[in-house]
Amino acid sequence: MLRIGPVQLKTNLLLAPIAGYCDLAFRTICREQGGLGLASTDLLSPQGLLRGTATSLDLAQTNDFDKPICMQLYGGDPAIMAEGALWAVKHGATVVDINMGCPVDKVTKKDGGSRLLCIPDTAEEIVRACVRVLEPLGVPLTCKMRLGWFDDQPVASWLAPRLIDAGVCAVTIHGRTTQQKFQGEVNHDGIARVVEAVGNHCKAAGHTVPVIGNGDVRQPQDAVNMLRRTGCAGVMIGRGALSTPWLFRDSWAAINNQPIPAEPTTAEKLDIIRRYFALMIQTRDEHYAMFQIRRRMSWFGKRLGQELDPRGRPVGCKPLKEAVRVAKSPAEVLDRLAEFEAGGLRGGMEVGEIEHDAAAR
Ligand SMILES: Cc1cc2nc3c(=O)[nH]c(=O)nc-3n(C[C@H](O)[C@H](O)[C@H](O)COP(=O)(O)O)c2cc1C
Repeated sequence: MLRIGPVQLKTNLLLAPIAGYCDLAFRTICREQGGLGLASTDLLSPQGLLRGTATSLDLAQTNDFDKPICMQLYGGDPAIMAEGALWAVKHGATVVDINMGCPVDKVTKKDGGSRLLCIPDTAEEIVRACVRVLEPLGVPLTCKMRLGWFDDQPVASWLAPRLIDAGVCAVTIHGRTTQQKFQGEVNHDGIARVVEAVGNHCKAAGHTVPVIGNGDVRQPQDAVNMLRRTGCAGVMIGRGALSTPWLFRDSWAAINNQPIPAEPTTAEKLDIIRRYFALMIQTRDEHYAMFQIRRRMSWFGKRLGQELDPRGRPVGCKPLKEAVRVAKSPAEVLDRLAEFEAGGLRGGMEVGEIEHDAAAR
């Protein structure tokens, strides 16, 4: 069972931060499906939290059901990161994470995200500053990093042990470099090398610190493969959960050699979407919920319209996605979902989607 410092998780499956997607409403529906051990907020600006800007406060929203929760901070200033860490604990964080993987210019130009992989002294200072405030409160600090910035310079194998010495209680490795961004396949060997380096380092020091593997888990078997091929202690899932919020439940079954539960029916999938939409309205507002549901339908839609046409091809749900995209009100979104439930708005699965769908089955 996965333990992060003093925090014992119920499963070793984690929901990744995905800026703009892993909000309270989405985390809630993932938790409701089961199998989720720890969910993370999207990356949060400590300055924004400390100033109390509306955007940051919205992103940091949590509640009693949304536990255990990891709040992820980004930035390059140790003192501000430590203040942000304290703010996070005061506002409900069970775990605090430092983002050392974001490749986006806006973040790296200010020494945040994966830029920290190039300035290890600063990365260590940030960790030490945060641990100083978190340790007395019994809240563990974690880091989420890529394998390195450059493809030919893997730094995670030596940076992770160094940050563990500075007080980090778990390290998540996204098996790609910053140069790669999101291209290519996840590098299991690269993650395995970090697992080995951390294992050897901790053995010598007489303790264990878990490494969590991340990247390209879209089906339950991918989670099993991640554990087997890398030796990691836990698996973090990002994009796979956006289309399949029950992926944690299914992956947990696969990891435990249990039969994978039946796929939710179309009606159940639509209920999950309606639930997400209602939570989004409740936790934010109708305007923002409309913005989210329009773009989310392309993710949720990957699991809709999978019944086969007479030629044995999935029927697809393109008309539903389009109808939601142009809907003018929440009532209209709900009407379109009801229409789909009644058998309408099907068709138009694109070639790429057919291949993706075939690969998923
Ligand atoms: C749109 C998008 C936003 C992301 N935002 C964050 C973020 O805020 N913090 C972070 O650590 N990683 C972020 N990531 C990276 C994911 O957490 C994860 O490491 C990556 O997507 C690989 O995992 P996956 O294949 O399971 O999605 C983001 C990824 C995407 C695609």
